[in-house]
Amino acid sequence: MMEQPVDRHIFVIFGATGNLSFLKLLPALYRLLAHEKQQDRCHVLGVGTKELSDKDFRERAREALKNAGISSKDMNEWCDTCLHYHSLGKSSDDYSGLAERIRSLEKEYDIPGNRVFYMALPPAIFPKAITGIGESGLSTSDGWVRIVIEKPFGSDLNSAKELNHLLHQYFDESQVYRIDHYLGKETVQNLLIFRFANTIFESLWNRDRIDNIQITVAESIGIGERARYYDKAGALRDIVQNHLTQLLTLVAMEVPAVFTADDIRDEKVKVLRSIPLIRPETVVFGQYEKGTIGGKKVKGYREETGVADDSSTETYVAMKVEIDNWRWQGIPFYIRTGKRLNRRVTQIVVTFRHEPVCIFRPYSSCQITSNRLVITLQPDEGFHLYFDVKRPGEPLWLKTESLHFHYKDAFGPLPEAYQTLILDILQGDQTLFVRADEVETSWRLFNPLLGQDFPAHSYAAGTMGPEEAEKLLIKDGKKWENP
Ligand SMILES: NC(=O)c1ccc[n+]([C@@H]2O[C@H](COP(=O)([O-])OP(=O)(O)OC[C@H]3O[C@@H](n4cnc5c(N)ncnc54)[C@H](OP(=O)(O)O)[C@@H]3O)[C@@H](O)[C@H]2O)c1
Repeated sequence: MMEQPVDRHIFVIFGATGNLSFLKLLPALYRLLAHEKQQDRCHVLGVGTKELSDKDFRERAREALKNAGISSKDMNEWCDTCLHYHSLGKSSDDYSGLAERIRSLEKEYDIPGNRVFYMALPPAIFPKAITGIGESGLSTSDGWVRIVIEKPFGSDLNSAKELNHLLHQYFDESQVYRIDHYLGKETVQNLLIFRFANTIFESLWNRDRIDNIQITVAESIGIGERARYYDKAGALRDIVQNHLTQLLTLVAMEVPAVFTADDIRDEKVKVLRSIPLIRPETVVFGQYEKGTIGGKKVKGYREETGVADDSSTETYVAMKVEIDNWRWQGIPFYIRTGKRLNRRVTQIVVTFRHEPVCIFRPYSSCQITSNRLVITLQPDEGFHLYFDVKRPGEPLWLKTESLHFHYKDAFGPLPEAYQTLILDILQGDQTLFVRADEVETSWRLFNPLLGQDFPAHSYAAGTMGPEEAEKLLIKDGKKWENP
């Protein structure tokens, strides 16, 4: 729910005919504005190199919205009145023509210079588009101007620094919104509420009470049509440096002094700065081979279209991360991600320490398990707190039960992450966006691993990763808590 109407603005989508725009951005924009009856406060200008008319773009957008389950008279009207398209021409560099078009739309629809530039582009094109916007004078106006950069932000520390440097030539940091769409998920934001609005967990949230924390981002899908990007990027760049790192910082951060974007981001950066060099022997790379998922046979990574027969790109990463600060010293954080794993799930498992002395040991039927808090971020968002209870009757027998909470039972379906993030962009709230120093500190952490020639251990599609990842924890006397 919006507290105030959004300012009248123009929402410029670079890459408007791409996947992200049609699948996520346009449906999110429509749902957000239609829900609040504010459709006319936003004019969308799609930008690309294809030669399309407004009418062509509107037709494609209408189709995309229908595919997203939106079909109403209002939607047709929105497409016809609020969607526009501009082609940058064959050489894709006519930014002065784009500037003219934007100014003419602003005049026609009485928009006071408020502009969002959304980079839904292949990352290689980001610099050209940022320079084009800056050099054509579009980054300054009588209203507010904001620029949104999709992930991945750079492919290593140097490229991230260069991109930040370029952005800062034309934009102040307060105008830059680096997206990690994980942060738009209600359940990810709820990590802050869960920790800082409930006192029962905070006193346990430290090295005295916690044994280890595991964070898993598991995907059952393969690489689909993304071979060109993925084979160069791999799982470390695609998921670990951004999504997994964001989850790690939210779980590990200290309580911010106040709930503001910069206070929260300061605390997240402090976590990253407390992580010592990740030792190569605590990192496992893997690559999927053919296998079966949900009863269906699937190809191995090297058989995917566009992937070289001898590709060594990792589709799986597991690692141990340590945080050298007062709260976490000595407590391992195990993080892992992979494609073609046996299910799609994003989960944080906090395993508490065992009781110091087990008085039930003489009873052979008593298997004590550690208390665990399992936070599921997707799907079936919610959490389970596991504890032991006595089974009624004799002999003395313990059983693990749980207290649980499921978002869908309490609140029904959750909004799409992009809806939340776009609303924040329109309202100028940067809390859920990654700051320049945060993205660089994160790259600084993983950069040393990029140059290492880790062997990619094979794992069958439909499993939870290579055996070596199991061994990583066995060495520490622990095991993965599989969903
Ligand atoms: N798809 C997703 O669900 C998703 C999720 C998270 C992040 N992302 C990120 O979002 C970005 C876009 O992804 P995508 O999947 O939408 O890519 P995509 O389907 O390949 O679309 C990219 C669009 O960029 C346009 N384009 C290419 N060169 C251009 C240029 N020089 N100037 C202006 N426009 C140009 C193309 O339109 P023309 O042919 O008209 O030029 C194309 O429609 C990427 O950075 C990706 O990593 C995507």
